[in-house]
Amino acid sequence: MNISAIILAAGQGTRMVSNKPKILHQILGKHLVEYPIDVVQKSGAEKICLIVGHMAEDVKKTIGEGVEYRLQSEQLGTGHAVMQAIDFLSDDEEVIILCGDTPLISYESIDKLKSFHLTHNHDVSVLSAIVENPFGYGRIIRNSDENFLRIVEEKDANIKEKQICEINSGIYMFKSNSLKYALSKLTNNNVQKEYYLTDTIEILFKDGYSIGATSAVNVDDILGVNSREQLAMATNIMKDRINKKHMKQGVTLIDPISTYIEPDVVIGQDTIIEPNCIIKGNTEIGSNCCIGYNTKIDNSNIKDNVNIEISVILKSTIGSGTKVGPFAYVRPNSVIGKNVKIGDFVEIKNSTIDDGSKASHLTYIGDADVGKNVNFGCGTVVVNYDGKKKHRSTICDNAFIGCNTNLVSPVVVNENAYIAAGSTITKEVPQDSLAIARQKQKNIENWSNRKR
Ligand code: UD1
Ligand code: CA
Repeated sequence: MNISAIILAAGQGTRMVSNKPKILHQILGKHLVEYPIDVVQKSGAEKICLIVGHMAEDVKKTIGEGVEYRLQSEQLGTGHAVMQAIDFLSDDEEVIILCGDTPLISYESIDKLKSFHLTHNHDVSVLSAIVENPFGYGRIIRNSDENFLRIVEEKDANIKEKQICEINSGIYMFKSNSLKYALSKLTNNNVQKEYYLTDTIEILFKDGYSIGATSAVNVDDILGVNSREQLAMATNIMKDRINKKHMKQGVTLIDPISTYIEPDVVIGQDTIIEPNCIIKGNTEIGSNCCIGYNTKIDNSNIKDNVNIEISVILKSTIGSGTKVGPFAYVRPNSVIGKNVKIGDFVEIKNSTIDDGSKASHLTYIGDADVGKNVNFGCGTVVVNYDGKKKHRSTICDNAFIGCNTNLVSPVVVNENAYIAAGSTITKEVPQDSLAIARQKQKNIENWSNRKR
């Protein structure tokens, strides 16, 4: 059996009050529409079609080539949107239809819908939900035997129908042929003068096709995002789900409320995440780490037993047993080895730092390759930029860089070399030597008395 999916995403999303299409707003680093895309992919959809309309070019550029696109240039309703994808559908396949603005839809709910649909061999199955406040949603109409008959939209519902709390989530599974048949019969004879996808249900039922409705695993799953307030609510629910998943897998979150972990992050057992951390992108964190409060980690690889405090780490690797912070800034393309110390107010950029080296305080290391067990005294600066070009320096194993040293790149400091505090190094420092590059001290006797 082939499964494909159609995701409706042509609407503008007026209530977002935004210059961006609604589905390109983000929840924890992912665009809204990427969530349903991921879920249907996981549910076995081999091809996915996105119905685009409002700012279609921006949507295509952002979402890229993983899905097909069909343009709905005028938004004449959800049924009309699906009509744009008729040529996308093969005969005799199953098609999941859902909305681009429903980011909380879970794999479990789609899986339930799929099993329900296939076991009953329905022509269409609707994912429903029982909600406290059904206002705005289409209502599931059943007869006295509880048989599902049709969906009535809020604006078309009578007073009795408006009291029904079983609602249409806007998520369906159709047999493609039955869907095509129903779309060919669809009219816009309703209050909004729109082609409602929901009307296909009644068309199929009346013509003797088999229809059914089953409820979502979790009511949150069907929550749509229409406003900034709902965006914040959905972010909160997503955050909560992700945090619970990590806690279940043995990660301690001291304050889940203030901990923001993006969906693709991986964290090892017995790692502790302190309050106010944000962990982004494809970050991987090992076991037994402590990610101290107020830390941001983006697309980085943190090995085991790492200790980080109030720091920012971007697109970098931190080796096991290494300590970072407080107040360190590790910028993209840095690879830091094992048991390294990157202390307070240290900035590292596009550099490699090998095992056992230490930059304990107030140091800038940019565009440099640093060997093992190198010690940077307080206030070392790698002078990597001449105003036009960046240059690279090398500092070899066991070098000792005295406090307040400038290393004017490109320069090499060889193994076991010492640099005297306050030096400005512009020439290669040979192995095992001491470099002193500062003016000699001169004392002028009795100077202050004369000045007075
Ligand atoms: C729809 C359902 C309603 C259901 C609700 C669930 C219909 C007629 N009603 O109502 O039963 O309870 O979703 O959230 O289907 N879209 C297009 N092109 C269009 C119109 C809409 O692509 O011409 C897209 C929108 O961008 C959106 C989705 O379809 O992603 C749903 O459209 P919307 O207008 O929000 O439908 P609702 O009125 O909420
Ligand atoms: Ca909606």
